[in-house]
Amino acid sequence: MNVSKIAINGFFGRMGQTIYNLSIKDKEKFEVTVGCDQKDKINLQHEISLTDNLSKFSDLFDVVIDFSLPEPSIKAVKTCEEISKPITIGTTGFSDEQKKYLIAASEKIPLLLAPNMSLGVNASLQSISDLSKLLTNYEVSIEETHHKNKIDSPSGTALKIADVIANARGTEASSIDIKAYREEGEIGVHKTTFKSDDDEIIIYHNAFNRSIFAKGALETSQWIANQKPGLYTYKDFMESV
Ligand SMILES: NC(=O)c1ccc[n+]([C@@H]2O[C@H](COP(=O)([O-])OP(=O)(O)OC[C@H]3O[C@@H](n4cnc5c(N)ncnc54)[C@H](O)[C@@H]3O)[C@@H](O)[C@H]2O)c1
Repeated sequence: MNVSKIAINGFFGRMGQTIYNLSIKDKEKFEVTVGCDQKDKINLQHEISLTDNLSKFSDLFDVVIDFSLPEPSIKAVKTCEEISKPITIGTTGFSDEQKKYLIAASEKIPLLLAPNMSLGVNASLQSISDLSKLLTNYEVSIEETHHKNKIDSPSGTALKIADVIANARGTEASSIDIKAYREEGEIGVHKTTFKSDDDEIIIYHNAFNRSIFAKGALETSQWIANQKPGLYTYKDFMESV
């Protein structure tokens, strides 16, 4: 299969740099050609093309990976609509209005939205769904811990877990107790507890590094580049490969 050339939005961020460094280790599979970030971060001396405006280099890439902030992410989607390019989004913290916009945009372009790009978390969502259906009388709660620079709280992953439980049980996600903690250096821990008077079951995921998300971002970029317009999740990708 052809390698689709990648532009990274949020290039100089923690995730942008992890994705870029991982792509360099596997040049046969992944080619990052454009990095987009805020104007004051653009260093003209770089081995790839840097910009604060993706449309400037639209002929250099086939697909966008976005790990930035909600507003720049929406801006990147608008550009992708204008230039008809697919996008895979790892950014979290979108408002309801922004989510509506993403849904509308996905009618025109292939758009994958994944608040967690790791295989481990996405595989455990399946178990959480199954347990939620089987253990209807168990009280469920979610705890998440991230580094202190994380802006949104609770995390997009914790909200996704709550959605999965609510969908499985036919209840409201807002009724599920989520506790969010911020600790120096913590990449991302999610703990989902099912508790009865007699026992408890815990689904626990601890990310040791950001490469697990970067791998998902790179892999979904190659997959979304070959899809029709529509809104996709990591689960769609996971189930198709
Ligand atoms: N889906 C996942 O698996 C996953 C994993 C980790 C982080 N995240 C999310 O990804 C996002 C980024 O996380 P991070 O830790 O890399 O954050 P970060 O703060 O390190 O990086 C964000 C980058 O976006 C850049 N940016 C700001 N405005 C911009 C603009 N107008 N155009 C282009 N770039 C702009 C910033 O300058 C910065 O370099 C967050 O929303 C975070 O929650 C998701």
